[in-house]
Amino acid sequence: MQIGVPKESKTGETLVAATPKTVAALIKLGHSVAIERGAGELAAFPDALYVEAGAELVDSAWDCDVVIKVNAPTDAEIGRLRRGAWLAAMMAPARSPELVNALTVAGVTALAMDAVPRISRAQALDVLSSMANLGGYRAVIEAAHEYGGLFTGQVTAAGKVPPATVFVVGAGVAGLAAIGAANSLGAIVRAFDVRPEVAEQVESMGGQFVHLDVQQAEQRSDGYAAEMSGDFEAAARAMYEQEASNADIVITTALIPGRPAPELITAQTVSEMKPGSVMVDLAASNGGNIAGTQANRKVVTDNGVTIIGYTDLPSRLPTQASQLYGTNMVNLLKLVTPQKDGVLVLDLDDVVLRGMTVTHDGAVLWPPPPVTVTAAPTAPPLAPVEKRPPPDPRRRWYTLGLLAVIFAIGITFAPAAFLAHLTVFALAVVIGYYVISNVTHALHTPLMSVTNAISGIILVGALLQVGSSNIAVTILSFFGIMIASINIFGGFAVTQRMLKMFRKG
Ligand code: NAI
Repeated sequence: MQIGVPKESKTGETLVAATPKTVAALIKLGHSVAIERGAGELAAFPDALYVEAGAELVDSAWDCDVVIKVNAPTDAEIGRLRRGAWLAAMMAPARSPELVNALTVAGVTALAMDAVPRISRAQALDVLSSMANLGGYRAVIEAAHEYGGLFTGQVTAAGKVPPATVFVVGAGVAGLAAIGAANSLGAIVRAFDVRPEVAEQVESMGGQFVHLDVQQAEQRSDGYAAEMSGDFEAAARAMYEQEASNADIVITTALIPGRPAPELITAQTVSEMKPGSVMVDLAASNGGNIAGTQANRKVVTDNGVTIIGYTDLPSRLPTQASQLYGTNMVNLLKLVTPQKDGVLVLDLDDVVLRGMTVTHDGAVLWPPPPVTVTAAPTAPPLAPVEKRPPPDPRRRWYTLGLLAVIFAIGITFAPAAFLAHLTVFALAVVIGYYVISNVTHALHTPLMSVTNAISGIILVGALLQVGSSNIAVTILSFFGIMIASINIFGGFAVTQRMLKMFRKG
């Protein structure tokens, strides 16, 4: 099939749906690619690079079999699509009934890149996640640019400079990226989310999670947050007031899909913030989480607080954003080109494809049936708890006493070597505990795989025994050598692979 990549017509859009690298990947799937002249210019991809990657330069890409783009097409653009063509772009179908109608009338198979279900298998094509990740990072950069101070603390001959305090609201994709970016610039980062289970993720990105004592919100069956209760809202409001007035930077990313953004930071809270503080409201296009946010504008309040409401944060990183968007697009095309032979197959039994298909063969397929994700299991109803008498506290002491006696008898009558082994074992437990607990969570898996090298001791033992005159010992030693070798070499191979993921470049 011929895949067409038009130049984006939306004013100010810098992104493009394919880069030279992703063009090469699309061609490997058996497709040919036609790029409109100048389509990648604003993302720093000149036409020549596309031609080098194997694409054909065209004046209009709208008559191709498949059209891939970033923003929803205009009515005029839909009019230029072939009947039966495929179109993949961000479409916000839930908020755009006219667009859905126009695509149906045009007889187009429309796939909404922003409607990919939030399940692990679909992550490779989830543009909302890849764009939110860049958005969160860029929000910190915008805030740092606007803020008249350092993010990191410094001790100089002229005195100490404290680090900036950043408060992030909403620890989803954008929020976590913002926490990571602010932390790496040296700020103290505090964060809150209605889903307390994200506390660990916040901490792993270097933030401190702000806990509320009130019952927090449930997760919806589709993996998103549900709305808050009245009590919770009141406690949260008091917390926002306190956190915001202590913070130098506030970044808000709270979202409940399908609803306007919740207003979390009130005008009163903004008025109590320090002059010079900066707020970035990522939810600006959806109404904003901060009172006074204006979409696509920077506002300075009477008390000197800057509120940034830019809605194009990923477009401010056009090269990488286009690369990520293009890769998401390639992953979609891999899914619909299962044989890599350039033949498109729309499997509507696949929840990922069904979730993003808006129109097909002149029929409206929106909204799709709800998808239940494993990230939000519904708790089974609790069985009535049978009341038991409280355990006798003395029982615990009797058990401990009995174990101590058995242990004392054991070490009295055990051979002397046993005591030495036991001491080594106890010391190993203590050292192991401190070594593992001081290694950051993210590195636990490589650590585990490198500890496979401990099998080396089995290997040494088995090598010493393999020449034994007893055939059973030789066979066992042989298997010992084989299994321990697999464990050691496999462990090092896995460790190498995982460490590569942490290396820059
Ligand atoms: P997400 O769904 O991954 O995260 C949203 C988080 O907000 C969730 O963790 C949710 O639990 C939390 N949340 C919901 N209600 C809350 C409340 N009342 N208080 C505290 N936390 C609450 O969404 P994602 O992908 O991180 O996007 C976040 C926002 O950023 C969206 O509104 C998205 O449209 C916007 N965005 C804006 C960009 C821009 O250029 N301005 C670029 C990319 C994303």
